[in-house]
Amino acid sequence: RPDNRVNIVEVGPRDGLQNEKKTIPLATKIELIERLAQTGLSFIEAGSFVSPKWVPQMDNSSAIMEHLLTKNVISPVPITYSFLAPNAKGVANATALLRDHQGAYMTQTESLAGVNGKPAMELAVFAAATESFSKRNLNCDIATSLERFRDVIQGAKQIGIRARAYISVVLGCPFEGYEVDPHKVAEIATSLLEMGADEISLGDTTGMGTAPRTQELLRCMAAAGIRSEDIAMHFHDTYGQALVNTAVSLERGVRTFDSAVGGLGGCPYSPGATGNVATENMVYFLESLGMETGVDLDAMADIGQWITGELDKPNDSAVGKAVLGA
Ligand code: HMG
Ligand code: MG
Repeated sequence: RPDNRVNIVEVGPRDGLQNEKKTIPLATKIELIERLAQTGLSFIEAGSFVSPKWVPQMDNSSAIMEHLLTKNVISPVPITYSFLAPNAKGVANATALLRDHQGAYMTQTESLAGVNGKPAMELAVFAAATESFSKRNLNCDIATSLERFRDVIQGAKQIGIRARAYISVVLGCPFEGYEVDPHKVAEIATSLLEMGADEISLGDTTGMGTAPRTQELLRCMAAAGIRSEDIAMHFHDTYGQALVNTAVSLERGVRTFDSAVGGLGGCPYSPGATGNVATENMVYFLESLGMETGVDLDAMADIGQWITGELDKPNDSAVGKAVLGA
């Protein structure tokens, strides 16, 4: 992979929509994913196999997965679609659907071999860096969550697909403040990698991260022997620091970044936290540095304007609005 190539993981259809009060029709979610698939993105997070009592907006994620497996969604490049799965029930539901459609998706081996024409699938677990956040988000402590994730990761591996692992609140916790221990983050990341996770996405859930603290966190990760190519950064832009923190992460060798079209997003268990960094802003920033994202900025800006309109929200992407002259 050339050093100037950056992977953008579009999390709008999941992180962007999970927190919405208004019910979003399945057709709108599918239209969002299909439009995003045409922009040149290689990774789209499409839903969550979580409890509908906890996160009602993700209730129709199996219908979304089924759509992606049965309809030929057009995309200029091969796409990996990711779904969150936090426990045995989540992984059982997701893998049952995948087994029913065996042959309709690429395994990790096929993806790596450059086979095309079918989507690849991925399951993602989500740990927390603090006990208070783990309790709120997963209703269990960190150690119990890690035991559950072992089964989810194994379940993904058994059907030959990628497993991603998030760690939330790595740079600030809504309940424990700024005092998140970067060594604890590195320890959790090491456990998840040992279980077989293909990538660790470090979530600044609250957007409290600053440049020096991002640097310190990534220094700790490196000191623990975690390679930059195994790390993705997931910045929320609550304090407007996401792109500064992205620059710091690039300097430390990270080449995968999560973002959401229109700056959508927020975690239901992180009060006050706002959206993910907007994909439009991320693409514009990275390309200005001479990095390649493969993403069509104009198309992304159009999607941001459309989906925020559908949700009756302001378009939170400065770049998106500037590009559109809106
Ligand atoms: P629990 O209540 O402890 O679980 O929840 P339980 O096993 O006692 O089950 C309770 C009920 O939920 C049962 O139903 C289960 O069947 C059902 P009942 O018998 O009462 O009718 N249930 C499920 N249904 C469907 N799919 C499942 C599932 N599991 C249980 N997988 C649980 C534990 C983990 C399920 C719950 O806490 C949960 O769903 N949490 C979801 C939290 C979530 O989705 N948060 C947002 C995503 S994370 C995030 O946004 C951060 C991120 O963006 C990175 C960052 O920014 O930091 C990734
Ligand atoms: Mg998030």
